[in-house]
Amino acid sequence: MDRYAVFGNPIGHSKSPQIHRLFAGQTGQALGYEPLLAPLDGFAGAARAFFVDGRGANVTVPFKEDAFRLADELTPRARRAGAVNTLMKREDGTLLGDNTDGAGLVRDLRQAGLDLAGLRILLLGAGGAVRGVLEPLLAERPAALVIANRSEDKARQLVDEFAELGPLSACGFAALQGPFDLIVNGTSASLAGELPPLPTGLIQPGRGFCYDMMYGREATPFCHWAQQQGTARTRDGLGMLVEQAAESFQLWRGVRPDTASVLAELRRQL
Ligand code: ATR
Repeated sequence: MDRYAVFGNPIGHSKSPQIHRLFAGQTGQALGYEPLLAPLDGFAGAARAFFVDGRGANVTVPFKEDAFRLADELTPRARRAGAVNTLMKREDGTLLGDNTDGAGLVRDLRQAGLDLAGLRILLLGAGGAVRGVLEPLLAERPAALVIANRSEDKARQLVDEFAELGPLSACGFAALQGPFDLIVNGTSASLAGELPPLPTGLIQPGRGFCYDMMYGREATPFCHWAQQQGTARTRDGLGMLVEQAAESFQLWRGVRPDTASVLAELRRQL
């Protein structure tokens, strides 16, 4: 049976094995998919050992930059992101590195009925998660994309790097001026149950869409804040997780799985 895996540290919490097994069952693909814990300083060795007979792997925190360096060739979107979340072994034995995170976000926003063209978008954070989604978001032709980060310098660096792709600008949280049509939280603040210090007026009550890349059984602190601001719709990142997995599955198997049923199943089990 073809072997696939997800590498991370820690890895016990990963939902990827369940997602890919559901995709495999649904599309009639015979494959195995296992979670693999790699040592913090030993990703390359663990991945090489796996790829002796493994066909493909997902890569999660903290190994996406290691996977970027390990890949023999990169897709353009992985090169731009500076990170790889999907590896595929090709016929000649070389490893192709891809990054499906940004496409996953854009697809999930589309599933939610959002057309990003012409929207004013605010992106919170300037770490790896935000870097990975910048190119796919700008490709949707928003009217403006503002990156706000605690350390303003990091947001400015991203603007320097990606400005040629669209209408990008950067600022700190305090200088933010709304309203925005869409706010995406790409900070890791939710992990600690925290919220970036956001001013009021970023979203018009009864309008706008707030999206948290994090997810949980309860509303995340950011989604909770958005509801308090009167935003029309909130959504957490569980759909992005399923959509990025579907992109990986398609790359490996050439078949696109149905994501809605898998998302519903995962949501039931949260
Ligand atoms: P990831 O790969 O998840 O993006 P990262 O590269 O460590 O992780 O980036 C974390 C992001 O969350 C950064 O933008 C960080 O802000 P700084 O660059 O100023 O450190 C942001 N972040 C983390 N905790 C935060 C908090 N409590 N409030 C606001 N921003 C926070």
